[in-house]
Amino acid sequence: MRTIGLGLIGFGTVGTGVVRLLKEYGTLIEKRLGAPLVLKRIADADTKRKRPVRVPPGILTSDVSAIMNDPDIDIVIELVGGYEPARSFILEAIGRGKHVVTANKALLATYGDEIFRAAQESRVDVGFEASVGGTIPIIKTLKEALVANEINSIMAIMNGTCNYILTKMTDEGKPFETVLKEAQRLGFAEADPTFDIEGIDTAHKLAITLSLAYGKRVRIDDVYREGIAGISQQDIEFAGEFGYRIKLLALAFKRGDRVEARIHPTMIPRDHLLANVDSNFNAFHITGSASGPVFLYGQGAGSIPTASAVVSDIVDIAREILKGVTGRVPYRSLGEDELGDIDLVPFEDVETNYYFRFMAADRAGVLSKISGILGDKNISIAAVIQKGRKKMGAVPVVMTTHKAKERAVREALTEIDRLDVVQAKTILIRIEDERL
Ligand code: HSE
Repeated sequence: MRTIGLGLIGFGTVGTGVVRLLKEYGTLIEKRLGAPLVLKRIADADTKRKRPVRVPPGILTSDVSAIMNDPDIDIVIELVGGYEPARSFILEAIGRGKHVVTANKALLATYGDEIFRAAQESRVDVGFEASVGGTIPIIKTLKEALVANEINSIMAIMNGTCNYILTKMTDEGKPFETVLKEAQRLGFAEADPTFDIEGIDTAHKLAITLSLAYGKRVRIDDVYREGIAGISQQDIEFAGEFGYRIKLLALAFKRGDRVEARIHPTMIPRDHLLANVDSNFNAFHITGSASGPVFLYGQGAGSIPTASAVVSDIVDIAREILKGVTGRVPYRSLGEDELGDIDLVPFEDVETNYYFRFMAADRAGVLSKISGILGDKNISIAAVIQKGRKKMGAVPVVMTTHKAKERAVREALTEIDRLDVVQAKTILIRIEDERL
């Protein structure tokens, strides 16, 4: 009987999950696939550490060439993460005619072109479902299920760590640093959590998502990105008073032939589906031209949920191997030769709604000075709240706006922050609210 040989590189959080799933669901998977998946080798720099899964003696090695040189290994699973040596491992596996499954979003967002070209030349498949949205089948949804659609919009929560932090800050009033430590302990956060907090992890995932949704290459540095480090308890509470919750969103809107893409903390109405995605969960709200809204929700991080997506890729590729085909589905929506470069709407031309928190002296005429500058820039106020009274010192004055241009908002805030009655840099959080 034909078996499918697997070699795993990286026996960490997700690698351990993959081994557990292959063991626990081996019989079920074999029934569904019609052939057994055989894990032949696991390579990891650390062969001594105790892991929550037992593996047959002799299969764990620190030598990756044991995988590369084994002709019975059909699929190499790269779960090392980071750029190097992961990139070299993947390119070597491809060069040797092995199929690849990876969860490495940073690598694909940066070196995707090189990897997919090499794979195309070697006629092998590359599965990367686990790279975006953890367990959620977002890659398959965009590449296959929505193939007959223009993707009009994507609004998504793509980082479990940030969502966990914002949820705990909102629901339990816990401080940022405390919940970040909790997320690290639970194994959601990146090795360097600034990748999570500053939105870099989300940018990697958005770049991959855009390449699938629009068949275009995107450089992550071209996408506007703002993380969650500046979100305070005070703004979370004001958001609540306006009926909003704050989420770190990755946003993409089709604007004619161009795409508006941005990543930033966003206020969304409390009854929006995304506002109710809590803890480490991720979600994608996609509007297809034919499908209408599609909502995908699930665990965006964690050992077993992410392993579920990795094993799904392994089974997809194994099915192709058993049928003697490869490349049935293109890596990124279109053939690599058809892929173009994305034409992004310049961020300054973006139009959306805004929340401002001014720290202003509590004196007559202050609001009229602020609103005068906003009015001059054609920024229309939707609602205002002022809390507390202070004879001396500053009080928060918060407002929401109707749709305004980013360029105008920046110019207005520069002027406002120069006023002597404004005593701290104004806080700006963008709002996505169709009712405003
Ligand atoms: N650090 C990532 C997150 C892990 O928090 O979502 C999954 O990519």
